[in-house]
Amino acid sequence: MSLQELPRLAILISGRGSNLQAFVDACTSGELAAHICLVISNNPTAAGLQCAALAGLVTRCIDHRDYSAREEFDRALVHELHSHAADLVVLAGFMRILTPVLIEPFIGRLLNIHPSLLPRYPGLHTHQRALDAGDVEAGATVHFVTPQLDGGPPVLQASVPVMPDDNPDTLAARVAAVEHIIYPLAVRWYLQGRLQLDGERATLDGKLIPATGIRYTPDLR
Ligand code: GRF
Repeated sequence: MSLQELPRLAILISGRGSNLQAFVDACTSGELAAHICLVISNNPTAAGLQCAALAGLVTRCIDHRDYSAREEFDRALVHELHSHAADLVVLAGFMRILTPVLIEPFIGRLLNIHPSLLPRYPGLHTHQRALDAGDVEAGATVHFVTPQLDGGPPVLQASVPVMPDDNPDTLAARVAAVEHIIYPLAVRWYLQGRLQLDGERATLDGKLIPATGIRYTPDLR
C-alpha cells in the first residue's frame, strides 16, 4: 500500500514522547499499517518533538499559552488535524483538558492512554496514589475519549506488579513498558475496523468490551 492510501494517524504529545516512539516503531516494522501524518505538541520544549523530527514526521507546536480560552486552543488543533486529514487522533501524554470543540468532531476517532487501571486513579500522580494505597498491581488503560475526563470507555488494560521497593519513577517505567505494547495494539484493532465506539461502550469485533476494558495477555492479536 502506498503512503497516500494508508490511514492517517495524528499524535498529540506534551513531553517525552515514548508512546509516540512506540507508534513510529510499529509503523516502521509494519505492525501498524498507518501513516503518522502529524505530531502536535502544546509544549515547545517537548522531547517528543525531537523524536518526531528525527523520524522525519511533520510536526507542529501549538502553544496553549498563546490562547486565552481552551476552546480557542482546541479550534487551532482541529484546524491542523483537518488540514492534515487525520483519520484517528491519538493522545500520547497530551497534558491538556480537551473541550467539546475538539472532542465532538473526532468522537469515536480519539484515543488516550492513561497510566492507571481505570476507573482507579483518574487525573494526575497515578503512580504515587497507587503506592500510597498499597496496591499490589498498577497498569495502564487505553480508552476512547469522551467529554468526561479520563472517563471514556476503556478498550484495553495491562497490569504490572508493584514491587515492595518501588517509587513513582520505577513504577512509571514498568507501566510505560506495557503502554508501548497495548497502545499500538488498540490502534491496530481500530485501523482494522475491529474497534469502535458504540454510544457509551466500546466494541471489539462487534462484541461489547467489558466496562474496565480487555485485560492484556501476550496472546492477544
Ligand atoms: C504516559 O504515562 C501516558 O500514560 C500518560 O502520559 C505519559 C506519556 O509518556 N498519558 P510519553 O510522553 O509517551 O513518554
